[in-house]
Amino acid sequence: MAEQVADMGVVVRRAGGPEALEWTRLDTAAPGPGEVRMAQHAIGVNFIDTYFRSGLYPWPSTPLIPGGEAAGIVEGVGEGVRNVKVGDRVAYTLPLGAYRTRRVVPADRLVLLPASIPFDVAASIMLKGLTAQFLIHSCYPVKSGQTVLVHAAAGGVGLLLGQWLNVLGATAIGTVGSAQKAPIALQNGYSHVIDYRAEDFVARVAEVAGPKGCDVVYDSVGKDTWRGSLQCLKRRGMLVCFGQSSGPIADFKIADLHAGGSLYACRPSLFDYIASSEELQTRAADLFARLTAGDIEAHIGQRVPLRDAADAHRALESRRTVGATVLLP
Ligand SMILES: NC(=O)c1ccc[n+]([C@@H]2O[C@H](COP(=O)([O-])OP(=O)(O)OC[C@H]3O[C@@H](n4cnc5c(N)ncnc54)[C@H](OP(=O)(O)O)[C@@H]3O)[C@@H](O)[C@H]2O)c1
Repeated sequence: MAEQVADMGVVVRRAGGPEALEWTRLDTAAPGPGEVRMAQHAIGVNFIDTYFRSGLYPWPSTPLIPGGEAAGIVEGVGEGVRNVKVGDRVAYTLPLGAYRTRRVVPADRLVLLPASIPFDVAASIMLKGLTAQFLIHSCYPVKSGQTVLVHAAAGGVGLLLGQWLNVLGATAIGTVGSAQKAPIALQNGYSHVIDYRAEDFVARVAEVAGPKGCDVVYDSVGKDTWRGSLQCLKRRGMLVCFGQSSGPIADFKIADLHAGGSLYACRPSLFDYIASSEELQTRAADLFARLTAGDIEAHIGQRVPLRDAADAHRALESRRTVGATVLLP
């Protein structure tokens, strides 16, 4: 195998807005021991990509290559790799590095794709679908009959959560940022949808959930919603703060949990729930089984050429997207 392969990708040299995303030549090395080189066929866009690009999250090195999920074909394997071979269809999620046409990845971070799952679907659900999986099975295991509030219900993670909660027999209440997004959330498992830019979501949730309130709130919006989210919980309910699309939470105090009725709160990250390859494989198998059974469906709202990643970021940050966005090399 040639040592280097001519490759293209998107880098950020200095933190900034979407214009900081630069389409450039990137050479890809041959895979080392325990590594695999992939030709990437589709790459998922996630809100976390914007946190890194803007500098909200620290960079491990410069320049930064954003991107947390992708799918493609194994082109070459390094010494000692046994779990995949050349020609296999594979996918992964890693915090960074996916916005490129070829990539070297650790073999133990790859999952084999069932033949029925296309590359674009795989690239749209590795990070988002595994997030939905750990949030409702491990972070707070949702049971049939429970009432659950999800913010940004028509977003990438939101549409997957609604469908999965519905399959589990929970009542899913969703919030959305425009009237146009409401029918999409309703088609994806939510039984009640609230436009939280037009209505007081705390009051509306109280009407739907009754005086008891919600068992759990999955809040990825952060700054604008966390206080209201606490008010939507039942006594001893759980606030899962798993994102900050509106900005980081600055003023949370542990006493807020006491005031709300002995509440719980946590701030989880997917990567702590798939740290071992066993846990990664088990969660991915569960996700793929749900997909292939038709219990949940991937909703790709936007397909964008990889070189135009800046347009994808602009749309995501201005709340114009629905479901997942996929970049195509
Ligand atoms: N902790 C983890 O491991 C983990 C893993 C995956 C994702 N996440 C988090 O989950 C969230 C969803 O990720 P995603 O990639 O699927 O994104 P997404 O939900 O498709 O997009 C973010 C959505 O947040 C809503 N939003 C509310 N206020 C906003 C604001 N001021 N600016 C921009 N958006 C705003 C918008 O929906 P409306 O217009 O409907 O309000 C927007 O569409 C993100 O916060 C992400 O960081 C966390």
